[in-house]
Amino acid sequence: MSSTDNADREPVLSARGLVKTFGRVVGLDGVDVDLYPGEVLAVIGDNGAGKSTLIKCLTGALVPDAGELFVDGRPVHFKRPQDARDAGIETVYQTLAVAPALDVASNLYLGRERRRPGFLGTVLRMLDKKGMRRDAAAAMAELGIGTLQNMAQPVETLSGGQRQAVAVARAAAFGSRIIVLDEPTAALGVKESTQVLKLIQEVRSRGLPVILISHNMPHVFEVADRIHIQRLGRCAGIVTPSSHTMSEAVAIMTGATTLSDAQGLSTG
Ligand SMILES: Nc1ncnc2c1ncn2[C@@H]1O[C@H](COP(=O)(O)OP(=O)(O)OP(=O)(O)O)[C@@H](O)[C@H]1O
Ligand SMILES: [Mg+2]
Repeated sequence: MSSTDNADREPVLSARGLVKTFGRVVGLDGVDVDLYPGEVLAVIGDNGAGKSTLIKCLTGALVPDAGELFVDGRPVHFKRPQDARDAGIETVYQTLAVAPALDVASNLYLGRERRRPGFLGTVLRMLDKKGMRRDAAAAMAELGIGTLQNMAQPVETLSGGQRQAVAVARAAAFGSRIIVLDEPTAALGVKESTQVLKLIQEVRSRGLPVILISHNMPHVFEVADRIHIQRLGRCAGIVTPSSHTMSEAVAIMTGATTLSDAQGLSTG
C-alpha cells in the first residue's frame, strides 16, 4: 500500500487549527496534523518554525490557545504530559530520556516497576528484578537491539545510540499507540544514528506510527513516509520522499519556493 494513499484511513492522531502564542510571539498559527497507522511522519523546519511547540501541543506539554485534538477520531484535551501518555502517546526527548544511574531494565520499567509475587511483593514491596531483566532482554531482542548484552548495566555507561535505543524500547514496550521522537539522532555518530533509524523502521513495521522531528535531511528522507514542513508557525506543505527531492523540501522550508511551484518542478 502506498503511504500517501490515506484517503480511506482514519488517523490515529489529528490536530485541527492549532494556535499557540507566547505574548506577542506566534508559535503556531493554525496548524493541522494527521498521523496515520504505521507511518513515520517527519516534521522539519527552520529554527523557530514551531516544531517543538507543535510537538508540545500534541503531547500535553503545552495547552494550545485554540484548535482541537483527536485520538482515534475522539476529541481529547491534554492538560499535562501524563494525559497524553495515558492516551498512548510516548515522547522520547533528546535529553533526559532515561535515568542515567539506573540500569537498563530499571529504565525500561521506570514508573511501572514490577513487584515480586505474593507476600514479598505486596507486603514487603520487593521488586521482581530478575523478571524485569529477563523481559527487558526479550523486549530489546524483539526490537533487534543486539548490542546491549547486560540489562544490569547502568545507562550512564552506554553509548549515546544505546541510550536512545533504551528510550525508544521503553516507549515501544508498554502498549504505546504513538511514538514521538524529538531530534533523536542530533547528538549521535554515524553508527549510532543508523541504529536509531533502524529502530524507527522496526517500530513502524510493528504498526506503531512515529512522529520524528529532525534537522537531518538524509535521515528524514531515509525513514519518513510523509514530511510535514513547518515554516513561520504554519504548515508550508506536506511532501513525501518520492514526490520531492531534498533540495525541494529545503526550498519550501526556507520560503525559496512554494509547495505548488516545487510540485511543478518535480512533475513538469
Ligand atoms: N516559552 C516560550 N516563550 C516565548 N516564546 C517561545 C516559547 N517557546 C517558543 N517560543 C517562540 O515560538 C516560536 C517557535 O518556537 P519553537 O521552539 O517551536 O521552534 P522550533 O521549530 O522547535 O525551532 P528549533 O529548530 O530551533 O528547535 C519561536 O519564535 C520561539 O521563540
Ligand atoms: Mg525545537
